[in-house]
Amino acid sequence: MSGPAYRTEAIVAEDIDAYLDAHQHKTMLRFITCGSVDDGKSTLIGRLLYDSKMIFEDQLAALENDSKRVGTQGQDIDFALLVDGLAAEREQGITIDVAYRFFATEKRKFIVADCPGHEQYTRNMVTGASTADLALILIDARKGVLVQTRRHSYLCHLLGIRNIVLAVNKMDLVAYSRDEFDRIVTEYSHFAKSIGIESFTAMPISGFKGDNITALSTNTPWYTGPTLVEHLETVEVDSARHAESPLRMPVQWVNRPNLDFRGFAGLIASGSVKPGDAIRVLPSGKTSTVKSIVAFGGDLESAQAGQSVTLTLEDEVDCSRGSVIAAADAPPEVSDQFEATIVWLDDEALLPGRGYWLKLATQTVTATIAEPKYEINVNDPSGAGAHLAASTLDLNAIGVAEVTTDRPIVFEPYEQNRALGGFILIDKVSNRTVGAGMLHFSLRRAQNVHWQATSVGREDHAALKNQKPLVLWFTGLSGSGKSTIADAVEKRLNLMNRHTFLLDGDNVRHGLNKDLGFTEADRIENIRRIGEVAKLMADAGLIVLTAFISPFRAERQMVRDMLPEGEFVEIFVDTPLEVAEARDVKGLYRKAREGKLKNFTGIDSPYEPPENPDIVVNTVETSPDEAAEAIIRKLLPLR
Ligand code: ADX
Repeated sequence: MSGPAYRTEAIVAEDIDAYLDAHQHKTMLRFITCGSVDDGKSTLIGRLLYDSKMIFEDQLAALENDSKRVGTQGQDIDFALLVDGLAAEREQGITIDVAYRFFATEKRKFIVADCPGHEQYTRNMVTGASTADLALILIDARKGVLVQTRRHSYLCHLLGIRNIVLAVNKMDLVAYSRDEFDRIVTEYSHFAKSIGIESFTAMPISGFKGDNITALSTNTPWYTGPTLVEHLETVEVDSARHAESPLRMPVQWVNRPNLDFRGFAGLIASGSVKPGDAIRVLPSGKTSTVKSIVAFGGDLESAQAGQSVTLTLEDEVDCSRGSVIAAADAPPEVSDQFEATIVWLDDEALLPGRGYWLKLATQTVTATIAEPKYEINVNDPSGAGAHLAASTLDLNAIGVAEVTTDRPIVFEPYEQNRALGGFILIDKVSNRTVGAGMLHFSLRRAQNVHWQATSVGREDHAALKNQKPLVLWFTGLSGSGKSTIADAVEKRLNLMNRHTFLLDGDNVRHGLNKDLGFTEADRIENIRRIGEVAKLMADAGLIVLTAFISPFRAERQMVRDMLPEGEFVEIFVDTPLEVAEARDVKGLYRKAREGKLKNFTGIDSPYEPPENPDIVVNTVETSPDEAAEAIIRKLLPLR
């Protein structure tokens, strides 16, 4: 191994901030390493860290001992032992899926995302690749291009990485054969072209021996390209490219220490800014002028993509967390309907129609995903990207679907701007990140359908009826008594001169929802429609009663979120399964037990009881009339 050809520093994770400060003047390259088992990924990373003196002395001593123990000859150190050792340490720290390592040379600082494991590989890769400037695709020279290589390359390309390095590793094990190298590069070229990768840089290396890592190797005199480190030091980073684009700064938070100061803090995603620049705040569209750029240690004359700053504006404009400050004359789009590519990351498959949290830059909204248009076959042996029919997306599946958000968001196509086009999806109940996605474009529908402002509003409707609108949402198992109790409550409200309407499961399923069955997706759509109807009726000033099993928490929450605070009253008709089944008013439980009725709630389809219902009714101890009385008492005083 030849000694490192550059000066380096070692840091520990806690010192990262101080470290980054000290390297302010240097550009930063983020890259990701992708390889299959035994491609030598760990060895290569270990080598990079070793050559940049990232290894602490005690670790180094341990490493040399370990290498001796496992019988590595000569002075070659087994770098894989180092990285794998760190990985074991890291796993005790539980949830970090992607390990980020830092090192620096005289020219540049680096963050390398190492995505371990195979089980959650896609998930880890998506995390690591979404912020990377470059992908290092490792190939074992003895094995050539594998299915994994294609899959990783496809994902990297999909996630917008424009710099791809094909590192043909373990060249020492193929006697530094130029023919082998050329053969692999040719094969990869064909594949790369087929998925739209326009260019890549191939290099023959040995992470173990150190060939072409920091110095050109005498073992490969036929290779005249750059060394790996040289290439990493000079390749164009995304932030440099982004600095040329119009300004976009997603607002992270509003800094208002006193009434005289109001600053908008965030990371500049693209473009540059200086005092006096005309800006536009999205989604409101209000314009203003930049007054100052506040940063730690004094005001700045300008700032650009990649910097975190606080901007003050000349005018008091509506701007809060989630807003985007943009160049006044070149603002990004605002929309609530999109086409997107989605990578599914959860064991539980995507439920089309369900509301998930969608986080894009600093915006968080509720989004629903339609049934996918198609799934992409990433393991296609003839390349990657064939379309498959799909009605959902399972773990690790990638597909294209329409996404609808509950309010307009500021975005740019992912291809143009990863910060404003990339998003994650979070399950509202479990809080798990279940998907990641890339917005392609907004569907013109969203721009052409405007909300029609009406002169007579919901307050006017309610005032005329002299009541406060409410939605009394009854939920519980089939046969629990929802319809009976809701009916008794409505009767009482009617006698009290209230204007009401009762929406009942069986009835609505004969009309509005007669096209729906009892799959999870159909039940979600059932509740979505009922929710919309209940909301319209509440807008009309009515007290609405609904009696649907509505088995899922997420959809009940969705309806709650559609209504003004306090108007949604969740009433849990808490009848145990045994009791409902013993009553079996409609004979459906018996059919379900006999296997003649599929997806029956409580038998082979789940029911998620409310966690914090507004009212609970126990039908074992109370009669429907008593229950109705109790509900009315809880609701009083009704306006
Ligand atoms: S929900 O799950 O989508 O909210 P909904 O309340 O509309 O269900 O309809 C439930 C009613 O449909 C039940 O009371 C029962 O009469 C009938 N039904 C028919 N098949 C099923 C089934 N597989 N699961 C539950 N209810 C069913």
